[in-house]
Amino acid sequence: MKIANDLYLRASLGEKIERYPVWLMRQAGRILPEYRAVRASVSGFKELAETPELAAEVTVQPVDLLGVDAAIIFSDILVVPDAMGLPYQMIEKKGPWFENTIRDEADLKILDQNIDVEDRLSYVLQALSITKKELNGRVPLIGFAGAPWTILCYMVEGSGSKTFSETRKLLYTKPKLAHELLQRITDVTIAYLRAQLKHGADALQLFDSWAGILGHKQYQEFGMQYIQQVVNAIDGPFTVFSKGAYSALPALMDLSCTTIGLDWNMSIEQARSLAGERKTLQGNLDPCVLYGSEASIERETLELLNTFKSQRHIVNLGHGVYPDIKPEHVKAFIKTVKNYEI
Ligand code: CP3
Repeated sequence: MKIANDLYLRASLGEKIERYPVWLMRQAGRILPEYRAVRASVSGFKELAETPELAAEVTVQPVDLLGVDAAIIFSDILVVPDAMGLPYQMIEKKGPWFENTIRDEADLKILDQNIDVEDRLSYVLQALSITKKELNGRVPLIGFAGAPWTILCYMVEGSGSKTFSETRKLLYTKPKLAHELLQRITDVTIAYLRAQLKHGADALQLFDSWAGILGHKQYQEFGMQYIQQVVNAIDGPFTVFSKGAYSALPALMDLSCTTIGLDWNMSIEQARSLAGERKTLQGNLDPCVLYGSEASIERETLELLNTFKSQRHIVNLGHGVYPDIKPEHVKAFIKTVKNYEI
């Protein structure tokens, strides 16, 4: 189906655009009262994510209510370990929690091998198909997965952490185990992303939320190597968002994906000089800008837009939108981007 507003796709591919496309990481869920109403009708996050009709409904909400130029499927990066046989719970106000973790060779036995993602993750794939129908060609639909390194962090640590020191310990004490697990995650992720494209995703994004906690050499070995495998296996618009991976920026620009996501500490000018016109850059307004007044949101957004010296940009925050941001403030951000003449 032809997509009416395909600015996001054209910007991804480096084609001509009339204005910069804009969307927000974590726009599905969190900030909208309409999301909270749907969320309150079920037992929790997991039931919502595993009920395709409801997941589709909250995916479309930001398109209708905020006017973003792309939808991102309502799901989570943790569905991959879940499908591999390591189930998680989402604990209210605390975040993800895994009953089992992988810290020894013997723990690998917990995991299922040769899983069929079409079966285990059918609820996400169905949500994509339903969303695709409900969007009816208005804007592109983004599918996503966690990067292997970030998924490893949760499978070893078993929950969120400020330092992920159990996982980083493993890189020094059992590097072979880390590589074995990273390879298994990579294989499942490739199959899962391909299935998402088959079931209606128009574009994909890889979230490497914990890239920034590794040193340069370690990120090459335990992060980039696996990202590269994923990127090489996938065609079409594809964003790699490696949060905090400053020293890896030159290597990221050499990947075969279309788009590199930048967090708000990264310099647009510097990233552009590394990328040339080879890559679209996505980002990177500080999410905290949206706590300010509407006037200051407009000013900060314009300041960001004025640093762009190329059409190859997708406007976004430098990380996910925070849950207590007012929808009106998000709208002020979006309006500023839409009114900006390039
Ligand atoms: O972008 C979107 O809006 C689509 C949905 C989406 C969710 N999680 C839904 C969600 C996406 C893209 C994610 C990605 C995700 N999940 C990441 C990578 C992006 C990032 O923020 O760095 C990570 C690290 C996770 C793991 C995760 N999921 C954590 C740490 C938490 C708890 C804290 C938090 O961020 O809310 C979640 C829960 C989660 N994932 C919620 C939602 C809407 C909140 C749960 C609820 O409604 O109770």
